[in-house]
Amino acid sequence: MLRIGMLTSGGDCQALNAAMRGVVKGICSKRDDVEIYGFQEGYKGLIYSNFKMLTSRDFSGILTLGGTILGTSRQPFKLMRVPDENGLDKVEAMKHTYHKLNLDCLVILGGNGTHKTANMLREEGLNIITLPKTIDNDLWGTDMTFGFQSAVDIATDTIDKIHTTATSHSRVFIIEVMGHKVGWVTLHAGIAGGADIILLPEIPYDTDVVVDAINKRKAAGKRFTIIAVAEGAISKKDSKLSKKELKEKQEKKKYPSVAYEVAERIQKRTEQEVRITVPGHMQRGGSPCPYDRVLSTRLGAAAAEAILDGDFGKMMGVKNGDIVRVPLAEVAGKLKYVDPDSDIIKEARMTGISFGDK
Ligand code: F6P
Repeated sequence: MLRIGMLTSGGDCQALNAAMRGVVKGICSKRDDVEIYGFQEGYKGLIYSNFKMLTSRDFSGILTLGGTILGTSRQPFKLMRVPDENGLDKVEAMKHTYHKLNLDCLVILGGNGTHKTANMLREEGLNIITLPKTIDNDLWGTDMTFGFQSAVDIATDTIDKIHTTATSHSRVFIIEVMGHKVGWVTLHAGIAGGADIILLPEIPYDTDVVVDAINKRKAAGKRFTIIAVAEGAISKKDSKLSKKELKEKQEKKKYPSVAYEVAERIQKRTEQEVRITVPGHMQRGGSPCPYDRVLSTRLGAAAAEAILDGDFGKMMGVKNGDIVRVPLAEVAGKLKYVDPDSDIIKEARMTGISFGDK
């Protein structure tokens, strides 16, 4: 008997169900003595032994379904070793559930925080296989995470729609794109949607440069300016502050989010009206795009293969179009940032996009 536990952890994204389907189809095509334990709401399910027994039929018809059939939750890594309100040691509890159920391995679908905990469980002796899920595309060790392209599609669609109304009213629009501390979704959606200015966490912006770019467009007869701003974008001035100083500044200002901060900075210095659009969690919702369906199916099937090989402690990743097994120890705790000197940034600059830095 092969006993597999499965959980989805952290913020959800498109193609989680497609990836799990890939794992289960892959394993069940080779073995018929499989038990699947679906832990509910991420690590919580493992900690409190809350699971459902699933069969391959539960994974049928979910290729296109958004969200996760297992539910998810955020269980911050730094709190893992902190006992819960009843004094329960969460790490010991997870190990206990794993051993009590006599699992052969645990398949964990998650992003950065999830991978830190997954690696800790590996160090504690559990057999772990992970799949790289996040719209942010910030996981180290893989060129691409599933969810990313679907989020890019939605953010691009938002920018497309904003273009028409921005033109009609001759306005400056700031569209805030998700991505946590990195700018992957904003960069790709910004280029795909024809944004005029793209502000990324990796390239701190100078307000004077942004204002100048807007006013030059107006002077050249352009009716609108579209700014795609990553939720983690930061000004040059603020990037020089210590973490403590920045926190104090943000607490004083209390902007609902970064787009409002940028709007306040530029509004007084442009003749045009400024408007804000924040698509927010829409970017994580709905059905996965075809690219993500293919990617997650491939990653899921590769996870099945690794399980059947008994090759644990690995994340399934993508390198130059191929699926690779990346040691979890290399993945955990590292973020993959946009490189400000990369070709894609240079090419975007060549087409006239301003990153607000020079
Ligand atoms: O990690 C995915 C993500 O959507 C980020 O882009 C965003 O910063 C964060 O999650 C939002 O988290 P929550 O769902 O907890 O509001």
